[in-house]
Amino acid sequence: MRVVKSVVEMQHEADRLRVEGKHIGLVPTMGYLHNGHLQLIEQAKRMCDAVIVSMFVNPTQFGPKEDFERYPRDFERDKSLALRSEVDFLFNPETKDMYVPDYGTYVEEQEASHILEGKIRPTHFRGVATVVAKLLNICKPHIAVFGQKDAQQVFIIKKMVRDLNFDVSVFVAPIVREADGLAMSSRNVYLSPEERANATVLHESLKYAEKKIKDGERNVKNLQSQMQQMIRSKGAPSVDYVAVIDPEMFRETDTITKPTVLVALAVRFGSTRLIDNALISTE
Ligand code: PAF
Repeated sequence: MRVVKSVVEMQHEADRLRVEGKHIGLVPTMGYLHNGHLQLIEQAKRMCDAVIVSMFVNPTQFGPKEDFERYPRDFERDKSLALRSEVDFLFNPETKDMYVPDYGTYVEEQEASHILEGKIRPTHFRGVATVVAKLLNICKPHIAVFGQKDAQQVFIIKKMVRDLNFDVSVFVAPIVREADGLAMSSRNVYLSPEERANATVLHESLKYAEKKIKDGERNVKNLQSQMQQMIRSKGAPSVDYVAVIDPEMFRETDTITKPTVLVALAVRFGSTRLIDNALISTE
């Protein structure tokens, strides 16, 4: 495995791989790898000849009061995990090289970016779309692999790839969960033991929603209030949103009419914000 820090060197390596006829897979991460990331890497390895994992805590996707400074970082641990996973390249650029001092170009999806996560984190998806566009231009993958846990991010990245004609396929891998159902996330390390135990309610509430929908519930307000009640009964976390989304358009809906809906939620346990979702077939 090669660790590459320079943007230009990564571009040259990607060119070389392409000239050699290699199929390149990119797994973009912000590091602090967990089993969810390792599954994305395995997926990329199954589909590609060379796998690049990017590791960059992207400042532009954090708001001024968010956790950029305290976001967990452990490069040596990540490096040995990537090595063990037989990654070919670990791209770990410096912030000053990704965002030069007079940096001034951003990519902004205009619609889905402003609901749910985007309402609470107004500049988040602009930062995500911008850095992903840059990573695609630097690593030149044929396939980029993302996790379904960040369902809104995935929707926006796919839309950006389509709208801006990026020559890449986006592959979305399923959510990887702990044995008790909590979706894997680098931010889970922030949870106190009590919060960690209570956080299983996110997945429980999604399972509950699935059962209600399968039993015929079509009224989103009813579903939301039952899910919120269930979540609030666990250590009084604060619910940022529980939403039912049309996954084709990524728009909120009041009545369930589509064959598949996305139920998405964001909940704060103390200062830790967790998100989770489930794609639910209504038939
Ligand atoms: O999902 C993430 O870890 C990040 O949002 C991403 C896609 C690596 C962009 O910084």
